[in-house]
Amino acid sequence: MHHEPVMLNEVLELIKNFPHSKILDGTLGLGGYSEAMLEAFPECRVLGLDRDSQAIDLACERLKVFGERFSALQKNFGSLGDVPDVNSFDVYVFDLGVSNMQITTPERGFSFQSDGPLDMRMNPDDESSMTAREALQQLDERTLAKIFWDYGEERFSRQIAAAIKRYRKPLETTSDLVSLIRDTLPQPVQRKMGTHPARRIFQALRIFVNDEAGELEALMSALGEFSHEALMIFVSYHSLEDRLVKKTFREWHSDGLGKILTRRPVTPSDDEIARNYKARSGKLRAFFTTRH
Ligand SMILES: C[S@@+](CC[C@H](N)C(=O)[O-])C[C@H]1O[C@@H](n2cnc3c(N)ncnc32)[C@H](O)[C@@H]1O
Repeated sequence: MHHEPVMLNEVLELIKNFPHSKILDGTLGLGGYSEAMLEAFPECRVLGLDRDSQAIDLACERLKVFGERFSALQKNFGSLGDVPDVNSFDVYVFDLGVSNMQITTPERGFSFQSDGPLDMRMNPDDESSMTAREALQQLDERTLAKIFWDYGEERFSRQIAAAIKRYRKPLETTSDLVSLIRDTLPQPVQRKMGTHPARRIFQALRIFVNDEAGELEALMSALGEFSHEALMIFVSYHSLEDRLVKKTFREWHSDGLGKILTRRPVTPSDDEIARNYKARSGKLRAFFTTRH
């Protein structure tokens, strides 16, 4: 199980220049960022959050060598306000999206490249949230088309939504959905796509199932309440997320909450993209809140 941390050097470089004795890693994943921070800054303590209990277990095992300097909580960052002493950290880091562990575990249903149940919940213990299979079954055609367009920018959103609703039997597996998409999109379009024909639909469903937009909005409003000095770092992989982070930073700046540290987003170097193609869409933005 491995996840190559994205723009790790850039994250460490930023943190180095600010107070960093207490760091909150809001998207722990497999603990790549946390491990590097604990190694680079021997005096710091890190609290890791993740909504995925499997990620928490794997990261805790990996980071147990750091003893009491590291602790973890299973939590959605959208409920940041519930974290004890949440406004006492010097640094808050959020590396949004899914981890490679989640994508490459077929039973989690995130991958269009391997067969598994259509689940896609980042927290599979959360029985209150819909699985991708339930979403495809229960939502009407217009709602599905809107999800595919808004979260996947899929040009064929309406055709695919219509095909899903026409399908003779319930879609149970990732392979069922991939075959349906392949059967629906015209061959010349598929040849020209330059990416897997199901990629955008899978991304859109994942964002919907996990309410990723709602989580990020709730997180930004919780952070906007803080009135202490803190460094906030976001790495996002989707234009919707990056736009929301950029807009919120501008609002914070004009409300006098602090300063934007990245006038333009930082992006991975060519070397990093060559090493880790999945990093290519990463955008890093940072803000420093002053005491107010
Ligand atoms: C890109 S990975 C983080 C990888 C990590 N930086 C590393 O280097 O190993 C994103 C992680 O954020 C978690 N996540 C996504 N949305 C979340 C949310 N709303 N609340 C808490 N964790 C979330 C996912 O479960 C996933 O493990």
